[in-house]
Amino acid sequence: MRILACLVVFSLRGASAFDKLGKPDDEPCSFAETAAGAVLIPSAHALQQCNHKVWSGYYQRTLDMAARPPIKIWELRTLQSGHFIFPSHPLGPRNMMWQIHLWTKNVTTSSLNKHFFSEFPTTSQPINCGLTISKPVTLYRAFAPRYFQYGHVITDLLPMVFWIYTTMDTSTIAVETDSKGKIPQFLQWFDSKLHERIVYVPADTIVCTESKVTVLNPKSWVVRPELLRLSALVAHVRQHVTQKVASGTVDRVIAYERLEGTTTTGRLLDKSQFRRLVDLAKDALRAAQRPPDSIVLYNGKDGDKPMSFEQQYRLFSSAYLVFGPHGAGMGNVLWMQSADCTARPAVIEFICSTDTRSVTGCYVTNGLKKLNRIMSFWRLLAGAPWVRYFHVWMLHHDDHESNVASVDEVGFNISLYAALRGAGPQMRRLRGLRV
Ligand SMILES: *[C@@H]1O[C@H](CO)[C@@H](O)[C@H](O)[C@H]1NC(C)=O
Ligand SMILES: *[C@@H]1O[C@H](CO)[C@@H](O)[C@H](O)[C@H]1NC(C)=O
Repeated sequence: MRILACLVVFSLRGASAFDKLGKPDDEPCSFAETAAGAVLIPSAHALQQCNHKVWSGYYQRTLDMAARPPIKIWELRTLQSGHFIFPSHPLGPRNMMWQIHLWTKNVTTSSLNKHFFSEFPTTSQPINCGLTISKPVTLYRAFAPRYFQYGHVITDLLPMVFWIYTTMDTSTIAVETDSKGKIPQFLQWFDSKLHERIVYVPADTIVCTESKVTVLNPKSWVVRPELLRLSALVAHVRQHVTQKVASGTVDRVIAYERLEGTTTTGRLLDKSQFRRLVDLAKDALRAAQRPPDSIVLYNGKDGDKPMSFEQQYRLFSSAYLVFGPHGAGMGNVLWMQSADCTARPAVIEFICSTDTRSVTGCYVTNGLKKLNRIMSFWRLLAGAPWVRYFHVWMLHHDDHESNVASVDEVGFNISLYAALRGAGPQMRRLRGLRV
């Protein structure tokens, strides 16, 4: 079933496919038509260079998880008052931490998922509350950040917090804040009413609760929060996004410029290749009778200042096509406007492959082993059903460890034409490839 679903071809609408963008999506689309329509388009060269089978596993796992209802993944447990702490990671603030140390009057933490909760360390000292919450509170610690990381805030924090906000209409929500206080700014910008419901808790602060505490207790097989990419969560956020959009024109193409010197997290593109990709996009736009000067280069900055949340939101909600390598900037796909099942905007994301083992940001180390990581905002946004998602492999650029990756240009070029036709790509035509 699912294998068939990914071969679904969207109806061809010619150059007018995007004309409905910006109108509210009142027509519900099925998950199979939208999220499951995501594809990877490799060139013959990329097929030789990397093991494309990893894509089908990735595709399958993403959809399996995305389609699950939250209630099958965790239970909401209400406990009596007590105290808790969001401890910082023993190896330093750059390490991801999502554990909560908790003590409540009537439940021992051992009855909760041990990957998310552990017993509040007991000492002979009396508890010294750094913060007291008097109202009932729901706790959620996102998979993230002592340092503000836009991509994580958009995909890990926002959907979950927004879901709690819309599901539990009375309680306060305790959310971990970052060291610079940008998370509160972001949530206030997104929805001031949501912001009012939140108590921002710095790591390592002891919080005492005077009323009931509710926790999201994941099923015992859930060991890490990045498994929790559920489309039901993202759907709540999207509903709010579509209400927020002041129906501006949707007439831009965004090229995500992730060049050397802009970030230390790898997956950068070489300047001259990036220029070629932009030129390919211009040619494709001309061929589709669209203005080639609608391409906007985006690197998260406005001059030498970082762009504001509002600026990024406005820019991406005016785009009918976005392309670039996997990186935080792609989180802005969340703001793209949509119409119905056929007239959706398109995203082409360049993702790590088995050929990018020497590219920083494409692997994690586990002891001496390097583990390859395919990452895409298609997955992080639980299938991103409001856009048509295309993936293109990145390949190695240098023979040594490098921050720079090379993009499969031919795969990119095919994706461009498919995206601009307003069509889903026809995978079977590509050398008998099955995904
Ligand atoms: C603990 O207290 C909460 C709130 O009063 C209650 O809903 C819950 O059932 C109690 N749990 C146990 C195991 O006693
Ligand atoms: C990109 O694809 C188009 C459409 O298939 C083709 O006409 C064009 O020659 C390709 N460009 C390059 C540089 O391969």
